[in-house]
Amino acid sequence: MATDTQAGQAIYNPRTLQLYDLVVLRLSNPLIWRCPTARILDLYDRHAGLAHLDVGVGTGWYLDRCRFPAPAPRVGLMDLNADSLSFAAHRIVRYRPETYRIDVLGTPVGGIAPFDSVGMTYLLHCLPGDIGAKAKAFDTVRPCLADDGVVFGATILSGGVPTTAAARALMWIYNRKGVFSNAADSLPALRSALDQRFRAVEITVVGCVALFVAREPR
Ligand SMILES: C[S@@+](CC[C@H](N)C(=O)[O-])C[C@H]1O[C@@H](n2cnc3c(N)ncnc32)[C@H](O)[C@@H]1O
Repeated sequence: MATDTQAGQAIYNPRTLQLYDLVVLRLSNPLIWRCPTARILDLYDRHAGLAHLDVGVGTGWYLDRCRFPAPAPRVGLMDLNADSLSFAAHRIVRYRPETYRIDVLGTPVGGIAPFDSVGMTYLLHCLPGDIGAKAKAFDTVRPCLADDGVVFGATILSGGVPTTAAARALMWIYNRKGVFSNAADSLPALRSALDQRFRAVEITVVGCVALFVAREPR
């Protein structure tokens, strides 16, 4: 089983991040994964709290566009990739974000005041291993989540969800390049990993994307 976490973040640099919103959010989400970006933005609008930690930040597009419950939320950005962190931090500089350069498959994070919400969008399918291994990301950030907080996000699955030929082809390419590691990621495995950690779990499938909301950590 792959354990190298470098591959899933290696593609993000200032040049690729400039293209990310167009390639992923505007084109791939609706046309390939069949999950309109607006569905994911809606998760942020509904669940991002007054103190929100985003993990696997990319360009920070959702944080820039979403409606927080107040004009001046506390926003934390966590990522292994320094370019993603600085791109997203610059984009939402108005919120004066806290930045944390951390590998979510590393040791649990301490010393950070808990957040009301933790967002993990399009992170899990970048992480190595099967869902059981990559779900360790939830354990890593658990100390950063308030006991009455919510974890939400989205991940592209390859099993237990409808996939088109185009989706299967692009996943195959991305898995070969190491950008994705989701060849064995299935809906039942995701549900089981979340159920093991949270008492209240909702998963909605849109295209081949699982949108999840989890509360009441065990
Ligand atoms: C596909 S982008 C998602 C960006 C954004 N959340 C979105 O949905 O548009 C994945 C992000 O996860 C980060 N990432 C990948 N592996 C990581 C790891 N092991 N620990 C922390 N961040 C990681 C990458 O650097 C990148 O910023």
